[in-house]
Amino acid sequence: MECEMRSSVSMKWSHRMPTGLELEVSHQPLKMKHLVNIIIALERLKTSGSQSVLSTEFRDENLLHVVMESIIEEHLVTECESAPSNDFSSGVEYQCSINDTKKRSLVLSQDSLKLYAIMLQGGNEHRKVYLNMSTYIHPSPDREARPVTLRIKGTDLYLSCFKDDAEPTLHLEVVEDKSSLSTISPNSEEMRFLFYKHDTGLNVSTLMSARFPDWYISTGQSDNNPVEMCQETDNRYRTFTIQRQS
Ligand SMILES: *[C@@H]1O[C@H](CO)[C@@H](O)[C@H](O)[C@H]1NC(C)=O
Ligand SMILES: *[C@@H]1O[C@H](CO)[C@@H](O)[C@H](O)[C@H]1NC(C)=O
Ligand SMILES: *[C@@H]1O[C@H](CO)[C@@H](O)[C@H](O)[C@H]1NC(C)=O
Repeated sequence: MECEMRSSVSMKWSHRMPTGLELEVSHQPLKMKHLVNIIIALERLKTSGSQSVLSTEFRDENLLHVVMESIIEEHLVTECESAPSNDFSSGVEYQCSINDTKKRSLVLSQDSLKLYAIMLQGGNEHRKVYLNMSTYIHPSPDREARPVTLRIKGTDLYLSCFKDDAEPTLHLEVVEDKSSLSTISPNSEEMRFLFYKHDTGLNVSTLMSARFPDWYISTGQSDNNPVEMCQETDNRYRTFTIQRQS
């Protein structure tokens, strides 16, 4: 994140300065670190030092000392400058129920490590897969679609999309360390875990690979077939009913 603020914003704060103090604001855009340092310095002056600041005994050296002390102690915001500006960062996680257009549930086959679209009969409902969907925030959000990762509830298995042959395919991959997906950089391998959830109706969405735009999670025409990636022109079901459980 490039944290730049214009000096007009800073000028507002200068009105809160104790009388007798002046804050010189550069007309260059300020980095967040500098801004925060100044606020902290002011807050400390307000709470601890204001009496002595206003008193006539207070000298420039005292002020410099107070301000320097505040600035030197503050290390918290350096991350803001060093963090790459274009990352996806994870937000809220929801547990979701998911069905395809034909109201088929998704079922996990542990053997093939694939999801299948199956019309579950009575007594087999426990085989239905629920997803834990984590939403992501991007500095330049897409109004149409929300980046998400999809994990099978109760497992470490994440849906991912990558090419191991000519075309992008859907995979289930074990991710033991969830925090490795807390931020995802656009050029990283982790992009294979991101999908754009585009709502096409109430609780109805498509899930497009962020790594391979125009490739969607989809189910086939007939029952008991694997969930796969497909393109818009393919004769497969690309919309899912997704309902939040929490
Ligand atoms: C999914 O389909 C089943 C019937 O197969 C239905 O009972 C359930 O309510 C559906 N869930 C959603 C989220 O549409
Ligand atoms: C799925 O997400 C919910 C939060 O909505 C959380 O309470 C639950 O523990 C998660 N399930 C798993 C298996 O991680
Ligand atoms: C959409 O999902 C919510 C729960 O997340 C549910 O209360 C609501 O009835 C659903 N609406 C439709 C039209 O399925």
